[in-house]
Amino acid sequence: MFQSMKNMLFDADKRKYAVMAINCVNMEQAMAIISAAQEEHSPVIINISPRQMKTHGTPEIIAPMVAKMAEGVNVPVALNLDHGQEYDDVIRVIKAGFTSVMIDASACEYEENINRTRLIASIAHENGLSVEGELGHVGSAVEGDSEKLDLYTNPEQAKDFVQRTNIDCLAVAIGTAHGNYPHNMTPRLDFQRLKELKDILQMPLVLHGGSGAGEENIKRAVACGINKINVCTDLFQCGRKAMVEAAAEKLEIDYMDFQIAGQNAMKLFIKDYMRMIGSSGKYYFESSRTREFD
Ligand code: G3H
Ligand code: ZN
Repeated sequence: MFQSMKNMLFDADKRKYAVMAINCVNMEQAMAIISAAQEEHSPVIINISPRQMKTHGTPEIIAPMVAKMAEGVNVPVALNLDHGQEYDDVIRVIKAGFTSVMIDASACEYEENINRTRLIASIAHENGLSVEGELGHVGSAVEGDSEKLDLYTNPEQAKDFVQRTNIDCLAVAIGTAHGNYPHNMTPRLDFQRLKELKDILQMPLVLHGGSGAGEENIKRAVACGINKINVCTDLFQCGRKAMVEAAAEKLEIDYMDFQIAGQNAMKLFIKDYMRMIGSSGKYYFESSRTREFD
């Protein structure tokens, strides 16, 4: 089932679990993600960023491929533009058939963030897509941004932001950052702030920088109201490790076996992550329709 993030995040919010949003740049990764979701009876979001689309599949190639795969399974699959910043990129993915967009104007001044986000939200909604915005700023782990308190999301401001932009879910900055943390450090998350954000907003909240955040932090973040978790770095590293090991074991490895080694390892990683954040088992198939249970 190919659909927007709206219903799946509404359900995740209601039943207090989170959905993985996984960066994906090719067919093998899409197969790993969608087959993991199918086996886990879990909803899933496929993310691709403008930068990834420059070096890999264009939106016009990615969207029909993911749509075709999603139509073949009975769990909800969304395709989301990750960290969209340019107006033209957003319009292009809407035309290509994406089901969701993130507009990330979090590096702009507050009013500019509102203006850009509100405009994209109205265009995306008119076209049936769901919209994610970001307030505060989730920066880079290697730059130490996870500890910069001035980047964290302010709850009162977030309320104003959501009311004025009409977004469907909000990415919040509470202590995670993108990429690998220095020296295997585990970030310290501001759960008190997260609880305040959830109380005041009562809507699906998004955690970026899901890699390296630690199982305890992730589970607690879900318990405190996170409903979408973005993961890229850990998945790519997992795929690369499996491929390197497969090649080390057999230097003349067949190209297809080489790809499959990465695909299988990523699939297992995703299945474990889905269990950790509670999305496993949330959908099951019965007489040609998907139904929620538990
Ligand atoms: O938008 C993408 C994510 O926030 C991924 O972050 O690479 O640290 O997992 P990550
Ligand atoms: Zn991100």
